[in-house]
Amino acid sequence: MTGGRFEGRVAVVTGAGNGLGRGSALRLSQEGARVVAVDIDEAAARRTAAELPGEAVAVAADVADEEATARWDAAAVAAFGRVDLYHLNAGIFGTFAPLPELTVEEFDRVQAVNVRGQFLGLRAAFRRFRAQGGGGAIVLTASIASLTGSADLLAYQTSKHATLGLLRGAALYGGPIGVRVNAVAPGIVPTDLFAAAAGTVGGKNDMERRASTTPLRRAGTPADIAAVTAFLLSEDAAYITGQVVSADGGASVVNTVRPSGGAGAWPTHELDEALYGTAVPAGGDGGIG
Ligand SMILES: NC(=O)c1ccc[n+]([C@@H]2O[C@H](COP(=O)([O-])OP(=O)(O)OC[C@H]3O[C@@H](n4cnc5c(N)ncnc54)[C@H](O)[C@@H]3O)[C@@H](O)[C@H]2O)c1
Repeated sequence: MTGGRFEGRVAVVTGAGNGLGRGSALRLSQEGARVVAVDIDEAAARRTAAELPGEAVAVAADVADEEATARWDAAAVAAFGRVDLYHLNAGIFGTFAPLPELTVEEFDRVQAVNVRGQFLGLRAAFRRFRAQGGGGAIVLTASIASLTGSADLLAYQTSKHATLGLLRGAALYGGPIGVRVNAVAPGIVPTDLFAAAAGTVGGKNDMERRASTTPLRRAGTPADIAAVTAFLLSEDAAYITGQVVSADGGASVVNTVRPSGGAGAWPTHELDEALYGTAVPAGGDGGIG
């Protein structure tokens, strides 16, 4: 892919060391952006920055940390003098712990990275745009879990629903001053997001199998998501703001109570056993507590 939609632009990508952030950094760089690759994993950030075709710097920073946010912002300006585009993407899934087992620490850490992290990134972006006297564009990574619910992803989906609140508030604030804010909502993209729960039902190892039940019958790729992110950051999306764009193979529009919607395609007893310690009988008679 060659092209110059981002020629002369500077882009910050958080969570750029792996997965979707890495894919986004690559696409933006291929289209001419100079890239600031932010990641809590310094080696991963450096690896991404080194493999990009254009100019790039790596910054090790925890997006949940206010001081670290100021550090990546300062590093971006020190390297390239300004910032025009942001992909606020870093996120963690936390745990599949059943609700009664979910600890306050696990819940809070997920909100800190996914919600506070995107808030701090948005605030840094708007401060930067104000300081340099000009707008730009921002994309947040949302999720199919911003739009739908699962019994085993409480902390994560709470955080990803909050992304929509951040999205709408920031888009409405930014509109009159020429700043567009949108979100991309991926479905299943096999990355390391669920690596900590690789062998658990709903974890990394069964992503391809679950993806085979989506309308497009395949998992997404980081390049699929990067293409949407790049579109939303580009002038091709000049009249789009405040939107959440699903890139999920159609998963979020499935009617799950129709046979064609995947109902019955997944053996529920596997999930029931993980959540309740036993299979729930058909009809869900509430006998498990
Ligand atoms: N992969 C999917 O199927 C999927 C689906 C929907 C949404 N998402 C979202 O996409 C985003 C990226 O996830 P991914 O799939 O690429 O996961 P990933 O684990 O492959 O990559 C995430 C990157 O973020 C970094 N990171 C984690 N915590 C950080 C922190 N506190 N500060 C800075 N960097 C941090 C990690 O080191 C890693 O490099 C997340 O927001 C995730 O919720 C992913």
